[in-house]
Amino acid sequence: MRPPIDQGTVLITGASEGIGRELARLLSRRVRTLVLVDRDVARLKPLREELLSLYPTLGVLLEQCDVCESRDIDALVASLESHFVRVDVLVNTAALGRQGLYAEARWGGLEELLRANVWVPALLTHRLLAPMLERGRGGVLNIGSGAAQLFLPGSTMFAATQRFLDGFTESLRLEVEGRGVVITRVAPGPLGDAGSQAVGAGVAPFFQISLEHCARVALAAFERGEALVYPGWGHRWVMRLLPLLPRMVKRGLGRLALRGVRREALTAPEALPVGLASPVLLAREPTPA
Ligand SMILES: NC(=O)c1ccc[n+]([C@@H]2O[C@H](COP(=O)([O-])OP(=O)(O)OC[C@H]3O[C@@H](n4cnc5c(N)ncnc54)[C@H](OP(=O)(O)O)[C@@H]3O)[C@@H](O)[C@H]2O)c1
Repeated sequence: MRPPIDQGTVLITGASEGIGRELARLLSRRVRTLVLVDRDVARLKPLREELLSLYPTLGVLLEQCDVCESRDIDALVASLESHFVRVDVLVNTAALGRQGLYAEARWGGLEELLRANVWVPALLTHRLLAPMLERGRGGVLNIGSGAAQLFLPGSTMFAATQRFLDGFTESLRLEVEGRGVVITRVAPGPLGDAGSQAVGAGVAPFFQISLEHCARVALAAFERGEALVYPGWGHRWVMRLLPLLPRMVKRGLGRLALRGVRREALTAPEALPVGLASPVLLAREPTPA
């Protein structure tokens, strides 16, 4: 079973940069309409210009929506209905990642991360899945992270949200099996060419892949109807080996990562921390104003 990409309508959250923007570029040559969602629509305009200069007949709808706000999600769904836009494929990319010790982080920041990474994909999927099932065709591509498999002190909330996305994707996939809807989770490691959550430096080269490569692998796996994909051969092997390790070894790796986080916090608080055992490197919790 293949998701209805060709000549379909694909909605991408967090399309202004990173993996979302790369997926928009890849999809633009095949879909009929792209619905690009971001909290600042001005940041989407250069992408729309770029795509229309290549594919003048492509429909590109820009939707301003802070996906963490329920009223914005309601407005987004209402706007789609008023434009008679039927979403064939939902790509959940908008997400947040921050590093910092849990007890020292602002609750507001943690709550925002929880909403972006858990509440948003859950709600948007809930809003858009039923019509897909009624039509007997559709797809949901969830961009997650390899952190779902790790104990990541210093990114505790982030790692926990990634476990949610794992369970959510796999369970929902079983619920809709045989009903024409493909649900896939992508779990990348560190990406080399800097989305705002990406930090290339300090990561072993065999781990790093470009955003474009990640998007390409993600899309290919989605089209094959796979449940889970780990983009990049180095990352893929590590992810396949991790479940074979006893929990105590994973805890040891987590402790190593924590040491790195603490060292960075002491020596270079402005720098983005790089944990050797952590294939997912995240933006630092912003300093409260
Ligand atoms: N980059 C990596 O190294 C890496 C590694 C593993 C997994 N991942 C995962 O891949 C996904 C995308 O990562 P990325 O690096 O491509 O991210 P990114 O470059 O930081 O882009 C995130 C996108 O989401 C948008 N966004 C964030 N909060 C939003 C909100 N409340 N409402 C609407 N849009 C919002 C951002 O736009 P605005 O800032 O304009 O709102 C931006 O377009 C995430 O799930 C991440 O966990 C990334």
